[in-house]
Amino acid sequence: MNTLFVASECAPFVKTGGLADVIGAVPKALASEGLGVKVMLPAYPALQDLAAGGSSVARFADLFGGPAELIETSAEGLTLLLLVAPHLYDREGSIYLTPAGADWPDNDLRFAALSYVGAQIALEGAAGWRPDIIHAHDWQAGLLPAYLQQSGTTAPPVVMTIHNIAFQGIFDASRLHALRLDPALFTQDGIEYFGKISFLKAGLALAQAITTVSPSYAAELLTPEFGMGLQGLLQARRAHLSGILNGIDTDVWNPETDPDLIAPYSARSLKKKAHNKAEIEARFGLTPSDGPLFCVVSRLTAQKGLDMLLDCLPDLVAQGGRLALLGTGDKALESAYIAASNHHSGAVGVIIGYDEPLSHLMQGGCDAILIPSRFEPCGLTQLYALRYGTIPVVARTGGLADTIIDANAAGLAADCATGFQFAPINATMLGQAITRAIETYQQPRVWAGLQRRAMRHPVGWAHSAQAYRAVYAGLSPPQPVQST
Ligand code: ADP
Ligand code: GLC
Repeated sequence: MNTLFVASECAPFVKTGGLADVIGAVPKALASEGLGVKVMLPAYPALQDLAAGGSSVARFADLFGGPAELIETSAEGLTLLLLVAPHLYDREGSIYLTPAGADWPDNDLRFAALSYVGAQIALEGAAGWRPDIIHAHDWQAGLLPAYLQQSGTTAPPVVMTIHNIAFQGIFDASRLHALRLDPALFTQDGIEYFGKISFLKAGLALAQAITTVSPSYAAELLTPEFGMGLQGLLQARRAHLSGILNGIDTDVWNPETDPDLIAPYSARSLKKKAHNKAEIEARFGLTPSDGPLFCVVSRLTAQKGLDMLLDCLPDLVAQGGRLALLGTGDKALESAYIAASNHHSGAVGVIIGYDEPLSHLMQGGCDAILIPSRFEPCGLTQLYALRYGTIPVVARTGGLADTIIDANAAGLAADCATGFQFAPINATMLGQAITRAIETYQQPRVWAGLQRRAMRHPVGWAHSAQAYRAVYAGLSPPQPVQST
């Protein structure tokens, strides 16, 4: 079975969050299940050198305002189909935002183009390769089933994965023509959402199967609190919705071989974590102490609940804890954390920015990681933390609820606890979870037991790759579109 992945980011080439890690890892896991996967991505500047060494598999004289070419190449164990369209992707700044931090004004065209070409490859193949299944990820690939539907021909089935329903790709209805969308699809059952075009809704309404990245988030999405306006559609399609937990690439995230650690270690040599910790203390300007070193590695947005952590910092520090935070995003949160690091000098250290090697070192050197998300489709940093024996303190929501077992009396007695959960999600309960973590850290044998269990917890992709394969296998063979 051949599968075409269509996504806007893919690690290690281009990454703004967990989506990239998943797109970089799942195809390899599916390959070990015997599937052939190609990953279609826009050729942003970071991918242009790779594209230059590949071979052309399709050309487009006018792809939404300029010529384009699809280039096939291989790198990092992946087969890539890179969409070279300089008028859409060859620009400085982030892949979604201008250097000034605004959405690119033509983001609708930029990602519609990705789906448009994905649909062409779904229908016609690329250099003799034909996909049996199309797997579209997040709103950037949401229009793909719409383009297939309006082609009026037999097409492979589409699986649409929701990594984060907070991002929906909503654009003005006046863009229908520019996006080459058939006005007949602009209905409540199609791509229309409160009078606008919604890329994600298009995918959810028209794909043959929908997945999201944890079982708990799949259930939460059916509620008004978490469905963000799409809960009604998802309820109607619940028979086609499943939650498949993310894994991590255990070759890339391996504390025994990680090149970004000062001192690699295993569950049998946990003491070596101290060398990594000393490096973190130096890099973040923290005063060495006997207390636990917490970390945060995160986008700084409302989703991640880090405003609540600000309220907890005085108590965390008063109880002997310290915090190293690496993050970027919301300017008010960035300033608030810089102010906190000045106020709690030596106990709170903050680096604003995006730094992949440092994120590895933090997993290797910190004692615990704080993830107080208000919602979390899956979350990957708690999975890295488990593998690195860094104890997660998490909000009980989405994938965090599905991956961490609370160190309450029952969890400890059953010898299965791997971290700390809190609910309801507010600063008071977060503060209590931090206190429980600090108290447990002061019992070295109990803490070491948590670490060893965390490191044994399965976090790879094997199980979920089988689940994706089962979703693919359950889709009926392509049906001709009924003419009316
Ligand atoms: P999300 O995708 O919602 O941001 P995840 O936990 O799924 O959340 O994935 C976040 C990914 O981005 C992880 O790989 C994490 O290590 C990485 N990350 C987040 N912020 C930073 C940062 N400032 N520097 C380096 N890596 C970061
Ligand atoms: C999104 C979610 C995150 C998830 C990631 C990968 O960015 O916010 O929870 O882990 O996608 O699926």
